[in-house]
Amino acid sequence: MRGVIERADAAGLPRIEVMPNHGKFLQLLAQLKGARRVLEIGTLGGYSTIWLARGIEAGGKVVSLELDPRHAEVARESIAAAGVANRVEVCVGPASELLAELTESGVEPFDLVFIDADKENIGVYVDAAVTLARPGTVIVLDNAVWHGAILDPQDDAARGVRSGLEAIGAHPRLQATALQTVGSKGWDGFALAVVTE
Ligand code: SAH
Ligand code: DHB
Ligand code: MG
Repeated sequence: MRGVIERADAAGLPRIEVMPNHGKFLQLLAQLKGARRVLEIGTLGGYSTIWLARGIEAGGKVVSLELDPRHAEVARESIAAAGVANRVEVCVGPASELLAELTESGVEPFDLVFIDADKENIGVYVDAAVTLARPGTVIVLDNAVWHGAILDPQDDAARGVRSGLEAIGAHPRLQATALQTVGSKGWDGFALAVVTE
C-alpha cells in the first residue's frame, strides 16, 4: 500500500486518500458485511479502492467512479500492481452521470457504498446509493468531521458534507450515525448508514 501512495505522489495526485488505519477499516467493513459488490464514488489513486477490493468475497466486484481521467489511469496501474484488477472496474466521468447510467442499466444492487468525491453533491450520491442498494446495504460517507470544521459556515466543503449528513439523517430508508476518527492526517470521521426496507 506504500507503493500505491508513492505512485500517486509521483504522478502529482493530492494526498487526500483515507488514512491507512481507515483503509483497513473499509476492508473490514466489506468483510463484516460479506460484501460481494462494492460501489465507490471518488477513486483518486485507487488507495481506498484496493483496501475495499481486498475485503470483498471471491467473485465480487468493486465499481469505482472517478471524474479525472489522470487519476483513473494512475489508479488502474496501482490496482493492477496490487493484483486486484480482475475485481475492480474504474469508470471515468462525473459521478452523477455515471450513477444515472448505472441505475438506468439496472445493475445488480451493491452491498456497500463508499462516498468520497466532491462534497457539494453528497446529497445526490446518497440518493443514488439508496437507489442502487437493497435492504441491508451499508453506506459509508468520508470526511464527516472535516478536521473539526464540519460546523464552519464559511467552509464550502464542510457545508457540503453537513448537508449530506442532514440528507442521511432525514432519509426515510436510512438508519445512521457518525463516528469521529483520528490518524496520521489528524481528525475526521465517517458516517455509517444502513438501508432499511
Ligand atoms: N477514495 C479515495 C480518495 C478520493 S479523493 C481514497 O481514499 O483513496 C476524491 C476524488 O473524487 C478525486 O480523485 C476527484 O477527482 C474525484 N471527484 C471529484 N469530483 C467528482 C465527480 N463529480 N465525479 C466523480 N469523481 C469526482
Ligand atoms: C481532504 C480529505 C479527504 O478525505 C477528501 O475526500 C477530500 C479532501 C483534505 O484533507 O483536503
Ligand atoms: Mg475523503
